[in-house]
Amino acid sequence: MSSTSIFDEIESQVRSYCRNWPATFTTAAGSSLHAEDGRSYLDFFAGAGALNYGHNHPVLLEALIEYLRSGGIVHSLDMHTATKREFLTTFRDRILAPRGLDYKVMFPGPTGTNTVESALKLARKVTGRQHILSFTNAFHGMTLGALSVTGNSMKRNGAGLPLTNSSKIPYDDYFSGATEDFLWLERVLSDSGSGVDKPAAIIVESVQGEGGLSAARPEWLRALSELCRAHEILLILDDVQAGCGRTGDFFSFEEAGITPDIVCLSKSISGFGLPMALTLIRPELDQWEPGEHNGTFRGHNPAFVTATAALNHFWSDDTFVGEVRERGAELHDGLSRIANGYEGAVVKGRGFLTGIKFPDTSAASKIAAASYQRGLLVETSGPEDEVLKTMPALTISSDELRSGVDIIAAAATEVLGAPVADLAAAK
Ligand SMILES: Cc1ncc(COP(=O)(O)O)c(C=O)c1O
Repeated sequence: MSSTSIFDEIESQVRSYCRNWPATFTTAAGSSLHAEDGRSYLDFFAGAGALNYGHNHPVLLEALIEYLRSGGIVHSLDMHTATKREFLTTFRDRILAPRGLDYKVMFPGPTGTNTVESALKLARKVTGRQHILSFTNAFHGMTLGALSVTGNSMKRNGAGLPLTNSSKIPYDDYFSGATEDFLWLERVLSDSGSGVDKPAAIIVESVQGEGGLSAARPEWLRALSELCRAHEILLILDDVQAGCGRTGDFFSFEEAGITPDIVCLSKSISGFGLPMALTLIRPELDQWEPGEHNGTFRGHNPAFVTATAALNHFWSDDTFVGEVRERGAELHDGLSRIANGYEGAVVKGRGFLTGIKFPDTSAASKIAAASYQRGLLVETSGPEDEVLKTMPALTISSDELRSGVDIIAAAATEVLGAPVADLAAAK
């Protein structure tokens, strides 16, 4: 049976990725996916950031199979299990302690939007305030609380009711350097006559994965953190997409040297594409009543097993970080070479969360489609899909990286014409 008619017949219209990539996928390894028509695809998508270590990484796969074969418990809500103990111990020893971070670990439901919801609820509970500030072009998820702090108007319209108790403020460089970013906010927070209610929290992404790959400068993040501290506003760092090594460090905020009050992690924390999320909470803020925020799927032991294996395998020393930095620079160089050939095209993002913004807002989608025809999965980002977004597995080889960049270059030539050779010197 190789038809796709069942998807058209009974799967909801809401499906989206399969419209751009209509292949029926069967198997995958590392940075390659295989479809049932015999074609293979190079993966510059990595499960939207859920597959930082590639598909079916052998070390993680082995740990998972062994665990399941041994009769290990699969589902346990928030009961004690040996695998949860192992995960928490490893996370403390390999990730938190070496970075001098002191967080309590909460397991919300297993998706990104679940950790964001828990962070927003906790910030409101602890401060007794209702309002949350978030940033232009932010993306935090699809449930109502997370949607209320998300920018994209198409997604917001899907809510079907007013999204309240939040306001948007400009992300770094929103006015292209023309305005000091925090001028307005600092003023109204200090002015008792401004009429602006003090928010419970400000939620921010270090790199806006869905909103167009804008990357906040470290000094901007530091200024935000200081502003929050000065006004006793909680800082929630949503590292669902940019965390787990995507920008080079385990946490995307390490470069800025800040310590957020609450951190949201999901996507690649299980390392294997299994659903899992964490909300990291400064200990004084851990004021939940038992069960005040719960959910059936918070104790997915197979995810604890692969997460622990991933932390031990990739994060026990600096070797992996070094490799990711090297590969990240190669990706950046390859994309810069392409962007340099087209007037107005610029490279955006940080580390392995990077892409090209084209002045013609329809270009990125066409290049992504032409790349798919050539066997590469690459998506777009931004309010108008104006950014070609590359997000390979952090484990990708140099050769695979080069092949993918070559495919994008050929697709860009098909869509935009041959690159202009002497533009690079002018840029
Ligand atoms: C920064 C950020 N937060 C939250 C989410 C929501 O995650 P999920 O789709 O797992 O609910 C995403 C998803 O892309 C994200 O990029």
